Amino acid sequence: MNVEEVFKNNDKWIAEKLAIDPDYFTNLAKGQSPEFLYIGCSDSRVTAEDLMGIQPGQAFIHRNIANLVNNVDLNVMTVLNYAVRHLKVNHIVVCGHYNCGGVKAAMQPADMGILNPWLRNIRDVYRIHRDELGKIEDESARYDRLVELNVQEQCVNLLKTAAVQEAITLRGLTVHGWVFDIRTGKLIDLKIDFDAILKDIKEIYNLY
Ligand code: CO
Repeated sequence: MNVEEVFKNNDKWIAEKLAIDPDYFTNLAKGQSPEFLYIGCSDSRVTAEDLMGIQPGQAFIHRNIANLVNNVDLNVMTVLNYAVRHLKVNHIVVCGHYNCGGVKAAMQPADMGILNPWLRNIRDVYRIHRDELGKIEDESARYDRLVELNVQEQCVNLLKTAAVQEAITLRGLTVHGWVFDIRTGKLIDLKIDFDAILKDIKEIYNLY
């Protein structure tokens, strides 16, 4: 793939869209009201729109290494607040993926330089779930489980924010934890039981 090809593809895409609907871009320019906020990994193989089968306008997207929702990351917090309070999305998805390089790196005893503080968030997930992960002898099974638990903890991080707490109460916003299985293409709903997870800690994080 070279740069010239990208622009040729773009021309082709415009023609395809206009062939179906001559007003496609005129309507697209009018505004957005996406149903989903999708928070996923930057990994080039995990393209949100393709794996969800969605079109422009249907999901507000934020991607970073290992789909982290860090409380002091102004970028993710701005995206979250804009999507929830202004666009009024009804669903927030944290989508991790197996074979995630970020999660893998956080399982290695290695100095990754500027990546260290970012990956530390995943090491903290490991610490929180150390008992469960420690019992998994097979390393690749443990890696898969850390991917899932990382999604779970990032969902919990969403639930710690005022914007999400308010939107759940006022209009029934829902948070979903998913994993994309890169080995099969399958999107898996982890069906996380947030009530059970938050039962003992909810009052600590209550802002709303
Ligand atoms: Co990844």
